[in-house]
Amino acid sequence: MTSASLGDWLCAMPKAELHLHIDGSLEPGRMLQLAAKNAISLPYASTAEVEAAYRFEDLQSFLDLYYLGASVLRDEDDFYWLMMDYLQRCRAQNIVHTEIMVEPQTYAAQGVGLDVIMAGFKRAMAEARDGWGQSVLLILSMLRHLPEADALATLAAADAYRDSFVAIGLASSEQGFPPEGFQRLYAVAAERGYALTAHAGEEGPAANVRTALEKLGVARIDHGVRSVEDPALIEDLRQRQIPLTVCPLSNVRLRVFPGMAQHNLLELLDAGLLVTVNSDDPAYFGGYLNENFLALAEHLHLTRAQAETLLFNSFSASFLPAAEKQAFREQLVLAIDHWSA
Ligand code: ADE
Ligand code: ZN
Repeated sequence: MTSASLGDWLCAMPKAELHLHIDGSLEPGRMLQLAAKNAISLPYASTAEVEAAYRFEDLQSFLDLYYLGASVLRDEDDFYWLMMDYLQRCRAQNIVHTEIMVEPQTYAAQGVGLDVIMAGFKRAMAEARDGWGQSVLLILSMLRHLPEADALATLAAADAYRDSFVAIGLASSEQGFPPEGFQRLYAVAAERGYALTAHAGEEGPAANVRTALEKLGVARIDHGVRSVEDPALIEDLRQRQIPLTVCPLSNVRLRVFPGMAQHNLLELLDAGLLVTVNSDDPAYFGGYLNENFLALAEHLHLTRAQAETLLFNSFSASFLPAAEKQAFREQLVLAIDHWSA
């Protein structure tokens, strides 16, 4: 298969996305429209100015603009459109299942509560489910630059929406905010029956991945690309088949790797780890899920066999019940057979 036809094939295949911050899907046009509607002043006059600002030095320089962007979201309709815009992208990119991180602490800074957020999100999710069968799970993602007590209060507030969230996660600045500071949060969430994931080994060291596994008890690692710095950790991740939700375009934009040609995703995959491909914050990093796959095809000589493994992994590594994972993998088998026929 040529790189171009592999790209066509990848775009056409059913797939899951497991690492997507909903605020990271806020496109510049929508951001400016909501800012005008809600009379919020931003330092940008046009989408070109927004895009010009998206040249990041590191994770923190991105997060500063990411939280600024999210500050335009105020009422139920704003959250409806944020979710609907992304779910329409899922439909266009054959993302048949998606697991979306929601970060209530971001909106609390503007005095916006979970009732407003969830009313908008749930309306969009119901329309997408009824309209084209979109499968969605939500992850309650906590911000690690805020105190653990704040995350515990957010977890308590989410009790009213317990059925809406499958898992908790931990995002934001990794440097200076290691996983060991959130052990109580993860213990309480585990007691409440949430699945557990956390960002680790993105900008921070492999030791954060180890700590997230051992002290937080996570079942999945978001990013985890710096695990390669610890061969014993790589062996554990392989043996336990701990999923890594890797985000290639994000890692290049945030300078975790100097360029896509240097990304280690295929090295991790070929070492037998349960690697998946994801977009993280597509509106900020130059592409949604298909563009992440296309970048691997273009710069890393992704093979058809590796591509198939990544697509199957996307379902296997999800937080869906076993029977639903299996049904999606069977849908993928049929799509592969149909394409070849
Ligand atoms: N929040 C949104 N994107 C993130 C990333 N790549 N790392 C940590 N926190 C985030
Ligand atoms: Zn992320």
